[in-house]
Amino acid sequence: MATETSVCDVFPLGSRLSERGRLQVGGCDTIELAREFGTPAYVVAEDDLRARARAFLAAGRAAGHDEFHVVFASKAFPCTAVLAVFANEGLWCDVASGGELHLALRAGFSPERIVVHGNAKSEAELRMALRHRVALIVVDNFDEIDRLERLLAEGAATDRSAQPVLVRVTPGVSGDTNAKISTGQADSKFGFVIDQIDRALARMRGVAGLEVRGLHAHIGSQLLTLEPFRATAAALGKLGAFPVWDLGGGLGARYTERQPPPPTIEEYVGAVVQAAHANGLGSGQQLLLEPGRALCANAAVTLYTVESVRRNVSHWVAVDGGMSDNIRPMLYGAVIEAHVADRFHGSTLCALAGKHCESGDVLVREVLLDDPRPGDVVVTPATGAYGYAMASNYNGLPRPPVIFCRDGEARVVARRESFEDLAARDVP
Ligand SMILES: Cc1ncc(COP(=O)(O)O)c(C=O)c1O
Repeated sequence: MATETSVCDVFPLGSRLSERGRLQVGGCDTIELAREFGTPAYVVAEDDLRARARAFLAAGRAAGHDEFHVVFASKAFPCTAVLAVFANEGLWCDVASGGELHLALRAGFSPERIVVHGNAKSEAELRMALRHRVALIVVDNFDEIDRLERLLAEGAATDRSAQPVLVRVTPGVSGDTNAKISTGQADSKFGFVIDQIDRALARMRGVAGLEVRGLHAHIGSQLLTLEPFRATAAALGKLGAFPVWDLGGGLGARYTERQPPPPTIEEYVGAVVQAAHANGLGSGQQLLLEPGRALCANAAVTLYTVESVRRNVSHWVAVDGGMSDNIRPMLYGAVIEAHVADRFHGSTLCALAGKHCESGDVLVREVLLDDPRPGDVVVTPATGAYGYAMASNYNGLPRPPVIFCRDGEARVVARRESFEDLAARDVP
């Protein structure tokens, strides 16, 4: 007798194959979603986002650090509904521009739960951060200190209490990840190297209206081992005692069934808390983590429709999206997987191509699919992080909608762009 079967945890929590072998996400049938909302479309299991947020907070409690805060790196999925879920779950928010600050405030994060980043913050962005009196500004370079000093002297801060700041440390630790998403090495465009820290701290302490609260380090993204995080804590521990440590994000996600699972949220938070304690962070001092990908990558899948199939050296399957909705495979060689949404477990070796006018627009170079045909719905899992965020209109493609699914109900939380949207900013 046919029964529902669960799928690998690369897919959102609770995803299943129905008795007919059709993928369901958040209780919704993906073939019906494609029919109702069109493709390409990002489909998010709302419960998955919530479960990961709760897992982070519970792991902090279990690890025994009382002042532990989870700061969602909003760059990973800057969609209002996603931000609102995390605001509602009690997370903080990391923003890296005035636009992200605007979105975070609009989605319901109060300024005292917002951390402002950026290696090239503009005067307008710093003014905005000071005006809202955000929880923390992470200071990245000496020019930014000069700029903050000038803005504070001009009265840019509306609050009379000092603006809390962290100093961004480049700890000289490199995570074992792609160079394009590695930030902790000495020759990074981010932050102060270790031998500049004393001077940076002294300079910041000399600015009236700034309160130096502590240290920040983010060494890279898609890290699959815990050692670099421990090394970062050890590097910060050598810089002295501070009320706040922010150890950034970086925990990797699982993108394919073949990829060994990364450390769990519990293992990661446990290891980081332990390393922070071992290197001098005491109870009562704040420990912040800034996960992006680990909170949302696996919460979403992208649905596409097959447009054409051709065979030359490879068996090319071309879909109706590509690098405009998921640039990660082209930008840094990310490997993802794909399936025909109602016929998993295929055996035809295919190359899954996008529809853009670039030879490099290939979503998956080698994937086993079940004899795909035009009209089939193809699904790529683990597309919740840095897909929507880095989407473009290349070749005049309207950006896809975001559909939230929960308990069998689907709702559009970001609509599909229209052709009119493509010209909306053009001045006649
Ligand atoms: C400062 C900072 N924090 C957090 C993150 C989130 O990283 P991830 O999505 O790998 O957790 C990033 C990503 O670039 C970052 O630059």
